[in-house]
Amino acid sequence: MNNHETSDSLKKMVVIVYASQTGNAMDAAERIGRDAERRGCPVAVVSIDEFDATSLPCEENVIFVVSTTGQGDTPDPMKAFWKHLLQRSLSHDWLKGVRYAVFGLGDSGYQKYNFVAKKLDKRLRDLGAVAIIERGLGDDQHPSGYEGALDPWMSSLWNALYRYNPDLLPRVSTVSDLDSLKMKIGGARSMCPGKFSHEKTRPDYFLKVINNYSLCEDGSETDVRYLKFEAISSSIYYHVGDVLEVLPEQSHVAVDAFLKLCNMDPELYIRFTIEIREMRSRRYL
Ligand SMILES: Cc1cc2nc3c(=O)[nH]c(=O)nc-3n(C[C@H](O)[C@H](O)[C@H](O)COP(=O)(O)O)c2cc1C
Repeated sequence: MNNHETSDSLKKMVVIVYASQTGNAMDAAERIGRDAERRGCPVAVVSIDEFDATSLPCEENVIFVVSTTGQGDTPDPMKAFWKHLLQRSLSHDWLKGVRYAVFGLGDSGYQKYNFVAKKLDKRLRDLGAVAIIERGLGDDQHPSGYEGALDPWMSSLWNALYRYNPDLLPRVSTVSDLDSLKMKIGGARSMCPGKFSHEKTRPDYFLKVINNYSLCEDGSETDVRYLKFEAISSSIYYHVGDVLEVLPEQSHVAVDAFLKLCNMDPELYIRFTIEIREMRSRRYL
């Protein structure tokens, strides 16, 4: 997937071009590529310095994943491509017939937030390309990092591409978004929150928290914690390098009471979208 393809073979697929300074945009591009492949979409993921800018007018669907570095600067591998795009000799219909999407990686703590993604989006439009969807902007300040914006942006992208050409995403029609959501919820429900004893009323393995403190500076937006546990029973064995997963559990009684109170069907699927600004202000209240 990551190999450089000839421009002829790239024409038949969705091309994902990334410009990265320290690797995040490459990771994001590869994630988009894997997600596309799962939907049966042929993709090529290429670094922008391996992409021939003169072949851009021949592409049908191009996805750009670009970060911003310095003070609103393009990543080093993007310099030559950007110089080519800024040429005055390029006409306003140079990219006629090209459909594109831009996902930017940046940090809203910087004055020139996601400057490169914004500049690229505008320049592509000025050269006659048509946006498949509105640009997405990933932000390091989001509690989930750039992925907080990437997930919903990818969903919109697949929906838009499917509406444009269902043949591009042959597996979308077989697994609907709702089906995949149901699968995820089913998987989460099947996770066991603890190893239960024969009585089934309480876990038979107990960990006592003996240290719990934040590793972040005061006033930091994120909260990374150091947790130290002491095993006070011994029915689970572990080795160095094993990973402990801490899963939250809902009280079934509380869930049933909530559903009854709201007169809701327990099998109903509801999608929540939480505004990050709202979450932040709540935390400070
Ligand atoms: C030295 C440096 C300068 C940065 N400058 C900006 C900036 O001007 N604007 C912005 O939105 N983000 C800026 N960022 C944040 C990066 O864009 C963000 O961390 C991104 O995820 C990096 O992606 P990359 O690893 O693909 O380069 C900067 C990050 C670093 C380390």
